[in-house]
Amino acid sequence: MQGIFIFMEIEIILKTKKDTQRLAESIARQVKTGDVIALYGELGAGKTFFAQAFCRALGVEEYVSSPSFVIMNEYAGKFPVAHLDLYRLAAEEEIYELGLEDIMEQRVTIIEWPEIAQNILPLQTIHIHFKLDGDIRIVKLIRT
Ligand SMILES: Nc1ncnc2c1ncn2[C@@H]1O[C@H](COP(=O)(O)OP(=O)(O)OP(=O)(O)O)[C@@H](O)[C@H]1O
Ligand SMILES: [Mg+2]
Repeated sequence: MQGIFIFMEIEIILKTKKDTQRLAESIARQVKTGDVIALYGELGAGKTFFAQAFCRALGVEEYVSSPSFVIMNEYAGKFPVAHLDLYRLAAEEEIYELGLEDIMEQRVTIIEWPEIAQNILPLQTIHIHFKLDGDIRIVKLIRT
C-alpha cells in the first residue's frame, strides 16, 4: 500500500521523578537496536534524568552521566546504548564527523539537544519534548 503515514502525538503530565522513571521504563520495554529517542527541552527539563532511567531499564549497570562535555557515552545493556548531548555542537558537519548515522544503526540511541541532527534522525524516531511548568513536567511524545 502506498502513502500511509501514521503520526502519533500524546501528552503526559509527570508530577514526580517516579513518573519520569515509569515513562522511561515503558518506552525501554518497546525499543530495539536501531531505535532513536530524541529528547528536547530547556536546561534542567529532565532529559538526562530520563536517559538515566531509560538506560537502567535497559540493564545498564554503570553510572549514566550527562554527556554534555564528552558529547557521547556508550553503554552495554540489553542492547548497545549510545547517549549523546549535542548542545555544544555548532555545525551540522560535526554530526557527520561523529559518525552518528552508523552509531544509530547499531545501537539504541538517546539524544539530548537533537535539534541540529534533525536531517539525519530516522523517520521513526521517538521525539520527547519536556516542558517545565512549576513543579510538574508536561511531556509531549511524538512518533511518526
Ligand atoms: N519529574 C522529574 N523528572 C525529571 N527530573 C526531575 C523531576 N523532578 C525533579 N527533577 C530533577 O530535575 C533535574 C533535571 O536535570 P537533568 O540533568 O535531567 O536536565 P537536562 O534536561 O538533562 O538538562 P541539560 O539541558 O542541562 O542537559 C534533576 O536534578 C532531577 O533530579
Ligand atoms: Mg542533560
